[in-house]
Amino acid sequence: MASIKTVAVAGGTGHLGAIVVEQLVKSGLFEVTVVTRGEKGGQIPAAVKMITVDYEYVDNLAEALRGFDAVVSVVAGHLSDLQRRLLDAAIIPGVKRFIPSWFGSDTRLPIVKESPLTSGKIKVAVSIQEKVSKGLIEYTSILGGPRVDWMMGSDYCMSIPKRHSTIQ
Ligand SMILES: NC(=O)c1ccc[n+]([C@@H]2O[C@H](COP(=O)([O-])OP(=O)(O)OC[C@H]3O[C@@H](n4cnc5c(N)ncnc54)[C@H](OP(=O)(O)O)[C@@H]3O)[C@@H](O)[C@H]2O)c1
Repeated sequence: MASIKTVAVAGGTGHLGAIVVEQLVKSGLFEVTVVTRGEKGGQIPAAVKMITVDYEYVDNLAEALRGFDAVVSVVAGHLSDLQRRLLDAAIIPGVKRFIPSWFGSDTRLPIVKESPLTSGKIKVAVSIQEKVSKGLIEYTSILGGPRVDWMMGSDYCMSIPKRHSTIQ
């Protein structure tokens, strides 16, 4: 496995991204840069570098990612096209490792595959497998299952504050 020092975190301003950035910095092992559209720049810790990108343009995105060993994507989970452009862009300057924004249930399981919530993530998985099989990049998937702390505070599945639960 290639050695990883410089890490770009796309979506590092988000709910999970802020935690990822905090923990990467805390480890003391990496030089961490947040990749952002720039609309929430104030939420990035002062010690962390920031680069502003337009995710629409792969060539510009590729230049922004030049020099990074790894790209961690923590962008909102439904952004499959954006993530595929991010993956394509990471490959151009030779980023060694890509961590896609999955952070949920195991998309290889049939019951998870059937869920409309994971269809975007499966599209990203297909693109990653294609690139990895050609030796263009390595990847790590992080599939920790549901984040119970998040689920209990949101209206999405079950809200403890509102005493409300959705059963499908
Ligand atoms: N396992 C679980 O229970 C669980 C729970 C929640 C989330 N997750 C997963 O964790 C990952 C991150 O989710 P999150 O809730 O942390 O994401 P989020 O906060 O909604 O968004 C993360 C970041 O995405 C970036 N972004 C880029 N383009 C965007 C666009 N067009 N629209 C919206 N945001 C855009 C934004 O960063 P900038 O504005 O800085 O560009 C934003 O801060 C997802 O894969 C999600 O499925 C898992």
